Amino acid sequence: MDKINIETSNNLSGTVKISGSKNASLPILAATVLWGSQYKIKNVPEISDVYTMLELIKQLGGSFEFNKNVVEINTEKISSYEAPYELVKTMRASVLVWGALLGRFGKARISFPGGCAIGDRPIDEHIKAFESLGYKTVVKQGYLETKKMAKTGGSYEFNIKSVTGSENVIIASILADNKTELCNCSIEPEVADLINFLKLLGADIKNIEDKVLISPVTRLNPKNKIYSIIPDRIEAGTFAVLGAIPGNNIKIINCDTEHLKLPLNIIEACGSDLKIKKNEMQVIGGELKPFNIETKPYPGFPTDLQAQFMVLAILAKGRSKFLENIFPSRFIHAAELRKLGADINVERGLANIKGVPFINGGKMQASDLRASASLVIAACTARGKSEISRVYHLDRGYEKIDYKLTEVGVKIWRTKE
Ligand code: EPU
Repeated sequence: MDKINIETSNNLSGTVKISGSKNASLPILAATVLWGSQYKIKNVPEISDVYTMLELIKQLGGSFEFNKNVVEINTEKISSYEAPYELVKTMRASVLVWGALLGRFGKARISFPGGCAIGDRPIDEHIKAFESLGYKTVVKQGYLETKKMAKTGGSYEFNIKSVTGSENVIIASILADNKTELCNCSIEPEVADLINFLKLLGADIKNIEDKVLISPVTRLNPKNKIYSIIPDRIEAGTFAVLGAIPGNNIKIINCDTEHLKLPLNIIEACGSDLKIKKNEMQVIGGELKPFNIETKPYPGFPTDLQAQFMVLAILAKGRSKFLENIFPSRFIHAAELRKLGADINVERGLANIKGVPFINGGKMQASDLRASASLVIAACTARGKSEISRVYHLDRGYEKIDYKLTEVGVKIWRTKE
């Protein structure tokens, strides 16, 4: 296992090019399982979660080539309808093939995903939605076995907004027997990207705010079409936080700033000078002021940026409050940041943070993807050297992260644990 070493890296400056979105790539790759054909998808990040999804497609019977961020997939020969424990346990998002397998075979066997470092993470909404649309699920030996029981289609209103829940049900409904109406769907840009991909293939989907109407089609036409994945808004937001550290000046290109309105407003309000264009931004860090955030479904503040923004709060002059509504126990990074001298108190989904003038380097352990990103940003500004272990979490979602950090001046290197 690798660990990352970082030495104080002040006055960072330079340009970072944002990769394609992880959370858009995963459902789009999974959706290729729905209709056996050849697909070409561009701007796919070369990260381990994408490789896990491609490995899953291969295990189902598909094949792929992945070069220079372009994936060519052939799903014609897929005959298995099982997502095995070995892959689901490495990546929960493997459950995204559930909808595609149901739409294709009318049945699926998916290893039941457990909780993870960010919380309990139930999937009851996926099950209930499938049930309303003509499928029945039973749990057997740790697997969710779902089968078509009636003509598929109908309507479902999600009780809670779920990103992968919405994506799974949308994918499953494209080739259904009857029309499908889904209400209270997630409207994250990644869900919109999946819908755009499916429309390109010939799916008949109308989405108005959080309502999605699907008229079934009998086939899809992916051949000779190329789809390009949207930029990763969470990666862009992560580098924006790095830019917002006093003394830093980072230009972020190849991003979509429309997807980051609220986080960028906060970065500006907490002291940065921001120059924003549609596909790029410059973040020049100034003296940090305290701020409050409350995570919410899009267009609210994303839970996937909460950990990174905490680094700004621990260094701000005053008290900040972070309310985590999506995953109330997603605060493991707070315990690691305290090791550097941060003053954070966490109670039932709420973190109270009292800014300190500086933090000192130390040894930290990454617990999940976004927590790792937060520890990396903290290590850059901490005095002295820091070590972050279990960085495989970081490699799940950030493409060429060491290279991108080095390009803006971070002193970073890996050693074996
Ligand atoms: N929820 C339920 N029942 C369900 C599904 C969700 O109660 O059946 C609850 C969850 O417990 C949570 C809320 O609904 O409180 C939202 O969860 P959601 O289903 O939207 O999360 P997800 O689809 O499992 C995706 C991202 C996560 C991101 C969340 C929230 C992917 C592959 N994953 O997860 O990304 O944090 O939405 O925005 O898209 C990451 O990239 O690091 C990451 C964890």
